[in-house]
This record gives sequence, structure tokens and C-alpha cells, in this order.
Amino acid sequence: MKNVILEIKSNVLVSKDIFLMRLVGDCSEIKNSGEFINIKLPNKYLRRPISVCDYSENHVDILYKVLGLGTKDMTNFTPGMKLDVLVGLGNGFDIKKDITPTLIAGGIGIAPMINLAKKYNELGIRPNLVYGARSKDDLVLIEVLEELTNLYLCTDDGSFGYHGNAIDCIKANNIEIEYYYSCGPYRMLEALAKNYKNGCLSLEARMGCGFGACMGCSIETTNGPKRVCKEGPVFDAREVIF
Ligand SMILES: Cc1cc2nc3c(=O)[nH]c(=O)nc-3n(C[C@H](O)[C@H](O)[C@H](O)COP(=O)(O)OP(=O)(O)OC[C@H]3O[C@@H](n4cnc5c(N)ncnc54)[C@H](O)[C@@H]3O)c2cc1C
Ligand code: FES
Repeated sequence: MKNVILEIKSNVLVSKDIFLMRLVGDCSEIKNSGEFINIKLPNKYLRRPISVCDYSENHVDILYKVLGLGTKDMTNFTPGMKLDVLVGLGNGFDIKKDITPTLIAGGIGIAPMINLAKKYNELGIRPNLVYGARSKDDLVLIEVLEELTNLYLCTDDGSFGYHGNAIDCIKANNIEIEYYYSCGPYRMLEALAKNYKNGCLSLEARMGCGFGACMGCSIETTNGPKRVCKEGPVFDAREVIF
């Protein structure tokens, strides 16, 4: 983990209530897809954890959805503004070299899948991606995702792609799941873990410190309590107790 000051390069609306922000500066501590960063916001005591969407040694992209006061404030941040950020947090995804993985994202859970898909493309493997959202407006960065993955889209209201949830979409398209990586709403992850054992889940939890010191983000697993910020956010699908 490293505490760095990053400068906002851009902060753009990509769909209703969803923004893509590029931060530049020393991001050398970010090593893996699926890690997260923890951003200090002016006038807010607790930092806001946000997944790494894409990164290099000197930049990190984040994709965030407006949820409450903190993310609302972030929408007003302008290029040139500097933010105090903890980078290199969490375990990230374990890349498996001999498989064609299926990435499964629900809503803003698409964020960590961008860099993960890039990592597989670099290995010469084109992953499947099942991407579900409530409605058409909640699906973002489709052109980028089409370049990187075999993309299957679904919406709860049927306004775009398959009408139904991610699991129905997997079944309807006969997608063979060798191994899956998932990130999204709790109920989606729970259903995936029940239906498919060979994969991993990226979880969210309310966080205090964000780096393992306060135990505030502990969850129950088959191997005892684990911290989402330190042993996670990525867990084996078989070990999470819902
Ligand atoms: C590991 C991790 C990765 C995440 N990645 C993303 C991402 O890529 N994009 C994105 O839009 N959101 C992501 N989230 C959720 C994001 O942290 C919350 O949406 C955000 O903190 C809400 O802040 P707020 O001030 O707008 O909301 P408020 O409700 O005003 O926040 C109040 C407090 O609750 C916490 N909180 C509220 N909702 C959540 C939540 N869902 N998860 C964790 N803490 C929460 C806030 O951090 C803050 O401390 C992630 C969360 C975690 C734990
Ligand atoms: S947030 Fe403090 S231990 Fe995870």
C-alpha cells in the first residue's frame, strides 16, 4: 500500500449517474486487476473505496456510480485537482493461464473487468463477459468491452440485450463456465456461488481503514472471518458464507 497524491486528468459522464475518472501520478504500487484504491474526499472523514478499472505505472482509471454524498461530490471534481489516495489495496484477481474464463459483472461491478479482460487479451485469450444491469442506461463502455471480450449483455427490464439476469443469460447462451470472475450486487454473487463453484467473487463491504487495521469489513468464510480490504475483496466462490 502507498499513500500518494494523484491529479485528476479527466472526469467524464459516461452514462446516467456513471462517471469515468482518470487520475495521474505514482501508481506503481498497483499490481493486479481487481485491486481497489481508497480516496480521501474533502470534508469527509472516511475514505471511499473504488475498484481499479484500468491502470499503468502512472495512471489509474476509476468508474464510479453516484450513490450518496461522497460520489455526488466527486462529479464536480475538475481536471487539475489533487486527491489524497491510498493505492495498492486488496488482493486482486488471480490470472489463470490455461483457461477461457467467463467474467460476470452486474451494474457498476463492470469496473474491475476492464483491466482483467485486457490482461487475458495480452495472454492471447479472449474471455467471455456476461454483463447485466437494471436497464440500458446502466450499461457502459460497450465498445471497449466488445473489442476485448465475447460480450453477452442482459437487462432486468429487457431494454437491451437478453431480458433477464446474468445467470439466466449464461444458461440461455449455453456458456460453458470453466472458471469465472464476478463482481456486482450481493444477490448476484450469492446466486452465482450457489450455481457455480469454480470461480471467484469480488465483494464490497463498508470500510473503516481500508488496509486491514480495524476489522470493520470482516465477513464470514469457511476458513473463519476474513477482511474484505486485506484478504479480499476477491474470494473463492466456495469459501464465502452468505
Ligand atoms: C472494494 C470496493 C470496491 C468498490 N468499487 C466501486 C467502483 O468501482 N465503483 C463504484 O461506483 N463503487 C464502488 N464501490 C462502492 C463505493 O465505495 C460506494 O459507492 C461509495 O463509497 C459510496 O460513497 P458515498 O459517499 O457516495 O455514499 P454514502 O452512502 O454517503 O457513504 C457513506 C459511507 O458508506 C460507505 N459506503 C456506502 N455504500 C457503500 C458500498 N456499496 N460499499 C462500500 N462502502 C459503502 C461509504 O464509503 C461511506 O463511508 C466499491 C466498494 C468497495 C468496498
Ligand atoms: S476496513 Fe479496516 S480492516 Fe478492512
